[in-house]
Amino acid sequence: MTQSTPMPEGFVPLQPFKPEGTALEAASRFYNTMDRRRTVRMFSDKPVPRDVIETCLLAASTAPSGAHKQPWRFVVVGEASLKSKIREAAEEEEREFYGRRASEEWLEDLRPFGTDDSKPFLEVAPWLIVVFKLAKTDDGGQTYYTNESVGIATGMLLAALHHAGLATLTHTPSPMGFLKEVLGRPDHERPFLLIPVGFPAEDAVVPKLERKGIEEISVWHE
Ligand SMILES: Cc1cc2nc3c(=O)[nH]c(=O)nc-3n(C[C@H](O)[C@H](O)[C@H](O)COP(=O)(O)O)c2cc1C
Repeated sequence: MTQSTPMPEGFVPLQPFKPEGTALEAASRFYNTMDRRRTVRMFSDKPVPRDVIETCLLAASTAPSGAHKQPWRFVVVGEASLKSKIREAAEEEEREFYGRRASEEWLEDLRPFGTDDSKPFLEVAPWLIVVFKLAKTDDGGQTYYTNESVGIATGMLLAALHHAGLATLTHTPSPMGFLKEVLGRPDHERPFLLIPVGFPAEDAVVPKLERKGIEEISVWHE
């Protein structure tokens, strides 16, 4: 069906994306790439060029967002002294978490991952990307569906970094308020996630896990 109405003011023609091959081939290629993504907790200190990270951030920032407010800010930390401050503060929160705050059930659920309050990757990984959500726009306006928008952008960031051959860890040293202080961020920016990024360590291992199958994750009404 073609649209014959004149182009409304403020609109441009859509440039549809046409993947190579059939839709199924394209979907399968992407799935096979994404199926290799794992959360990595053992990083190499091998440098990653800044422009690789920048390009992945631009990919993340193509995410849809409520009323196109793009309510995200990515604070990228490579400076060693700042990374060690973040590690120190994160480990303090994590000691509280593992020692007191976490319920027995939560600790039991975490056991297969072998995590504890020690976070050496916060200094080893060449970059830490701290994702902040904007509770207001930079000039004080409203943002909408902030969690959804920033969650989608972060998912796209993880996919872009993975696609570039980099390893990531979705880290939530809870509560994350210290990130705001350490990084000197303004009041309308709220810490959302902390993502160490780099190449995996040569001897990196990951927990063995299975992903749910299509029957379990979907319900169809055809
Ligand atoms: C919102 C969120 C928070 C997470 N927080 C942590 C964390 O603080 N520490 C950690 O080691 N892994 C964390 N993870 C990683 C999960 O444990 C991991 O994604 C899950 O075990 C599945 O493994 P996979 O990512 O390798 O598929 C987090 C993941 C998500 C999505």
